[in-house]
Amino acid sequence: MKHGSQINGSRVLITGAGSGIGRLMALDAAARGASEILIWDLSEERGQSVRDEIVATGAKARSFSVNVADSDQVAVVAEATGPVDVLVNCAGVVTGKKLLDADEESIRRVFDVNTLALYWVTRAFLPGMLERDRGTVATISSAAGFTGVAKQTDYSASKFAAVGFTESLRSELRAEGSNVQTLVVCPYYINTGMFEGVQTKFPRLLPILEETNVATKVMDSIDSGREQLVMPSLVRILPAARMLPTRLFDKTMDFLGVNKTMDHFTGRRPMTPEPNTAAPAEEVESAARSQLQN
Ligand SMILES: NC(=O)c1ccc[n+]([C@@H]2O[C@H](COP(=O)([O-])OP(=O)(O)OC[C@H]3O[C@@H](n4cnc5c(N)ncnc54)[C@H](O)[C@@H]3O)[C@@H](O)[C@H]2O)c1
Repeated sequence: MKHGSQINGSRVLITGAGSGIGRLMALDAAARGASEILIWDLSEERGQSVRDEIVATGAKARSFSVNVADSDQVAVVAEATGPVDVLVNCAGVVTGKKLLDADEESIRRVFDVNTLALYWVTRAFLPGMLERDRGTVATISSAAGFTGVAKQTDYSASKFAAVGFTESLRSELRAEGSNVQTLVVCPYYINTGMFEGVQTKFPRLLPILEETNVATKVMDSIDSGREQLVMPSLVRILPAARMLPTRLFDKTMDFLGVNKTMDHFTGRRPMTPEPNTAAPAEEVESAARSQLQN
């Protein structure tokens, strides 16, 4: 089913929509005539501010403070959110340290948010999509979902998993003859601030992507029923490059400067409030329950 807009008239949920490309995709979905934008973010304040921006344009939006890594919270907040037609799994975190420098908590957080949350959130909304036999599950992976990168042992592995997650789900839906679609997005670095400090050796071949451009292309891809979006084009050679002998593959990645991109990584400067200062699980659950009762 690849006809017409998937977004116009649809209820669109974006996780991590309080910042970066999530926020821009939420605004873009509103501009494309989504019937309601559902904003999920760890930060209540940033989620509400994006909701206000959208409502100011005349579109309908609600925001929820939720930790997507917490399966119980996800189930409760999903009920308060209601059915959605388009789910964009966008929330993500990065550690940016060498294997032995990263602490256990950060490594777990990367897999909890970038990988396991895909299961909790998608499992909450997929049954409704299957029942209506329409909808899209879009997942933001990364170019690091195609190649390992120094200082990304956790991040890259979590994004490889996101590619495998979407590809497997796509196969299951295909086997069932379902019209529910999937999209996996694999961008190189984007100028959102999440990867502050990264450097690229060949800016023409591998440019740091512009966030508005990425957000627009993801929404275009959802709208047109595309299944994979890889940016920029050079990144599309990665799966084929894997056919090279490993040493040659590694040399190619080194030549492209991939393993030095993180040398000066500092990561996102603190935002207000800090991403991990979400309300405790009980508060989120009771807030979601009261929304359910209203
Ligand atoms: N920025 C890049 O260079 C880049 C490149 C490739 C892929 N990506 C991926 O794109 C996605 C968005 O990245 P961005 O640059 O817009 O990031 P960002 O840091 O601007 O936004 C991420 C948002 O996710 C939210 N979030 C984090 N943990 C959460 C949790 N447990 N529950 C709910 N919300 C949570 C944060 O509060 C934040 O608002 C991520 O999945 C990222 O891995 C980013």
